[in-house]
Amino acid sequence: MAKTPVTFSCNACGATYNKWSGRCDACGEWNTIQQDQGISAGPPSKSLGIKRGSAMLLTDLTTHEPPPPRSKSGIGELDRVLGGGLVAASAILVGGDPGIGKSTLLLQAAAHFARQGLKTIYVSGEEASAQVRMRAQRLGLADAPVKLAAETNLRDILTTLEAERPDLAIIDSIQTMWADNVDSAPGSVSQVRASAHELTSFAKRTGVSVILVGHVTKDGQIAGPRVVEHMVDTVLYFEGERGHQFRILRAVKNRFGPADEIGVFEMTGGGLAEVTNPSALFLSERGTPAAGSVVFAGIEGTRPVLCELQALVAPSPHSQARRTVVGWDGGRLAMILAVLEARCGIPFAGLDVYLNVAGGMKISEPAADLAVAAALLSAREDVALPAETVVFGEISLSGALRPATQTENRLKEAQKLGFTSAIAPAGGKPVGKNGITLNTMSDLTGFVGEIFGAG
Ligand code: TYD
Ligand code: MG
Repeated sequence: MAKTPVTFSCNACGATYNKWSGRCDACGEWNTIQQDQGISAGPPSKSLGIKRGSAMLLTDLTTHEPPPPRSKSGIGELDRVLGGGLVAASAILVGGDPGIGKSTLLLQAAAHFARQGLKTIYVSGEEASAQVRMRAQRLGLADAPVKLAAETNLRDILTTLEAERPDLAIIDSIQTMWADNVDSAPGSVSQVRASAHELTSFAKRTGVSVILVGHVTKDGQIAGPRVVEHMVDTVLYFEGERGHQFRILRAVKNRFGPADEIGVFEMTGGGLAEVTNPSALFLSERGTPAAGSVVFAGIEGTRPVLCELQALVAPSPHSQARRTVVGWDGGRLAMILAVLEARCGIPFAGLDVYLNVAGGMKISEPAADLAVAAALLSAREDVALPAETVVFGEISLSGALRPATQTENRLKEAQKLGFTSAIAPAGGKPVGKNGITLNTMSDLTGFVGEIFGAG
């Protein structure tokens, strides 16, 4: 029999080596390299319904497996982001900046799930039980049948969960968990990874749903290795601007539902309140139409959301003009400026450009391109766009406009909020009559000529 080669890997970063060494060259950690235990085929299992190593036909699986049962919390915005409710045995990671409201959200979720009859345990590694209870009182949730535990030792937590067998366990936060078989400080990469691994395997083994809270580092990553995101079924980010009361819960990965779905909340004195009509909220601060302000009809997950883009263009006192973006991608802004310059002959050299998505919203859809271009031109020319108009569409490098998805949904939402006309790329699926005047254009030059009478 051929001899299996011996391999080693770093348990901090996963780099593999063919010989042992004291320090990992890839991540620089000491004493993290260990010999890999090779996996060899075992004897066929008798206890399981299927033979070990056997495969099943997809049709067999789909006819025998019912869709996963879901429990709803009753917080509509949360249930939608989860893909229609909480799936049993699922592992969910909720990431966000410190202080953004993760503990508040999850305590409210715990109380709601518990009131729906789910056995729920909230494990806090950051606050004492008395503190959590005080917060619950402030949120008006003191009577909810949630069990609290203040614990950081992973072994003790698993023992408790094993004895209690709840339906849902919330771990706040994964950075405070400490596995005593791992020789490093809580919050370190190997601790976070080991804790997340133990808790997700516990979820799969016992059917307990586990929600892990994860703090986000300055560069926007969930602290600890990326591998935690791969371990769990669902990754949600809780985002928002500190100065704003709006908070957005965004699904960036979901094995049980659509990714990119968002739930919108408002931080109030009594905790997080659902915002069921985000478009109305994002547009609520909009005054009379001004130069540089454009309403973008966007789609977030399965839902249309209207928001306001604001641009300011001013002569730059600096040798290098500034480009500042809040809520959108800076690279994409540079691209739009380049296309405006190269294809339409509208230069932005020597001009400072500021772009802001109002309300603390973050947009990643390419369909916002045309709305951004409109805001930039409107600010540069100091001309307001026609009132009650929404804009959407993707811009290609050639200056052509590409139709956006779900045009019909965007228009419906715009009409619901009192808009009377829309500017969108030509082509795409024909849309029905819905009381909104659709002004279609096939390229950016045409758009500039028609709206700003230039180009
Ligand atoms: P918290 O949930 O502790 O944040 P995280 O767990 O993400 O670190 O939220 C803390 C902030 O929320 C704090 O600045 C105060 C604010 N807050 C309210 O405005 N209203 C409330 O009812 C609660 C409980 C918190
Ligand atoms: Mg917290």
